[in-house]
Amino acid sequence: MADSEAPISPPAAEALPVFTPINLVLLSLLAFLIYTRIRPKPPIVLPKAPPPTVFRVFTPPELLPYNGTNHMPVYLAVRGKIFDVTSGRNFYGPGGPYENFAGRDASRGLACGSFDEEMLTKDLEGPLDTLQDLGPEEMEALQGWEERFNDKYLIIGELVPIGSEKVNKAKGAEA
Ligand code: HEM
Repeated sequence: MADSEAPISPPAAEALPVFTPINLVLLSLLAFLIYTRIRPKPPIVLPKAPPPTVFRVFTPPELLPYNGTNHMPVYLAVRGKIFDVTSGRNFYGPGGPYENFAGRDASRGLACGSFDEEMLTKDLEGPLDTLQDLGPEEMEALQGWEERFNDKYLIIGELVPIGSEKVNKAKGAEA
């Protein structure tokens, strides 16, 4: 074979440097991704849940402590339905403009557009306010408030007079 026909071997591939800046960036990115996957996660601490609100019956004296004092939730009753108005503490809590309604049957006051003391049922041991002496305008106003409360607050119970059968039933169910 003539010299001129000798196979020409390809030039040896030039060894590429491994530690180029781009490789270093990619490597650190990879290392960071792996680290985020395997790093120990701190235990998840959930905020303390509020005590569960269970539908129950209240007599007027039982409702009374729920007036926002002593860090108590704020409840008020409208036509027998008890609303948890704690999120409206600014309105109904101690020092609020409607604090008289807290822990009480607010029906008459809402119907008459007055938060005066005389709107509240005096005798907590007696029958509930039937509102029967109120006129159509007052009842309409009350309905408006009730709708607003239905939209805004959770109903957590029912107001019943002392001696109501419902009190006994509820006590029996608890036992
Ligand atoms: C001097 C007159 C009054 C003024 C200037 C006044 C002002 C207000 C204001 C600014 C709000 C807040 C509205 C909102 O952000 O949703 C409010 C809500 C309320 N007002 Fe009055 N008010 C007055 C009279 C009354 C009266 C006489 C009653 C009695 C029934 C009353 C009962 C309420 C109630 C129940 C709420 C709703 C609070 C809630 O959303 O839980 N207000 N009032």
